[in-house]
Amino acid sequence: METIRFSSVKSLSNKAKTLRDKLFSLELQLLSCHRLIRNLINLRNKTKLPFGIIVRALVYLTQVITSCHIHPSARIGENCSFPHPTGIVIGKNTIVGNNVRIFQNVTLGSHGYANKPNEYPIVEDNVTLYAGAIVLGGIHVGFGATIGAGSIVTRDIPPYSIAYGNPARIRGYHCSNCGNKVDFSDYNELISEKPLCKECS
Ligand SMILES: CC(C)(COP(=O)(O)OP(=O)(O)OC[C@H]1O[C@@H](n2cnc3c(N)ncnc32)[C@H](O)[C@@H]1OP(=O)(O)O)[C@@H](O)C(=O)NCCC(=O)NCCS
Ligand SMILES: [Zn+2]
Repeated sequence: METIRFSSVKSLSNKAKTLRDKLFSLELQLLSCHRLIRNLINLRNKTKLPFGIIVRALVYLTQVITSCHIHPSARIGENCSFPHPTGIVIGKNTIVGNNVRIFQNVTLGSHGYANKPNEYPIVEDNVTLYAGAIVLGGIHVGFGATIGAGSIVTRDIPPYSIAYGNPARIRGYHCSNCGNKVDFSDYNELISEKPLCKECS
């Protein structure tokens, strides 16, 4: 994963073209608030100014408006999108890469032993987390993977894989070149980190 900057809102801001779009874009508000909260915390740490109450108020307001909670310590990469931003919870120290799509009611969190080091997931670039997916613990969701709706993921997910179910299992792969689903009959050839469909191999 390339270096993750804190919650870039540029792409979402560009996507919402008019002022009206920006005003009513919940995903933009969600990410902007997260970024503002991060900046205020950094400023507070540097200047010791009493921003605590503003930070608390912003966290509260974000949750009231969007019904989502992104912990201030979580890092969200560039160009991420939240097509239906409601019920999303992203826990402390979670790292979300670039170009990640997160649908409604997705949870990225710890097993409940929040004080254990490395207890939060790392979601690599270009991952899609469909509605209601729950990803728990200090695991990696590999580059380009898709996690199906309603899945519970507690193990590492390899790059380009399609995983779903409870517990989530690898059910297929995306071609690393064209993105199409790789035929099951090509399964044995998927030893490399970059699966290819018949057409691309
Ligand atoms: C994960 C997903 C992308 C897989 O798609 P796919 O590889 O094309 O899978 P298919 O539709 O061919 O289904 C294959 C089998 O897996 C099952 N299946 C698919 N997704 C599943 C899921 N999330 N959980 C459990 N089983 C699932 C199907 O019922 C089917 O079972 P069958 O072979 O017994 O009939 C997709 O099913 C999914 O979860 N999409 C989520 C979409 C979403 O969140 N939409 C909300 C938008 S607002
Ligand atoms: Zn291909």
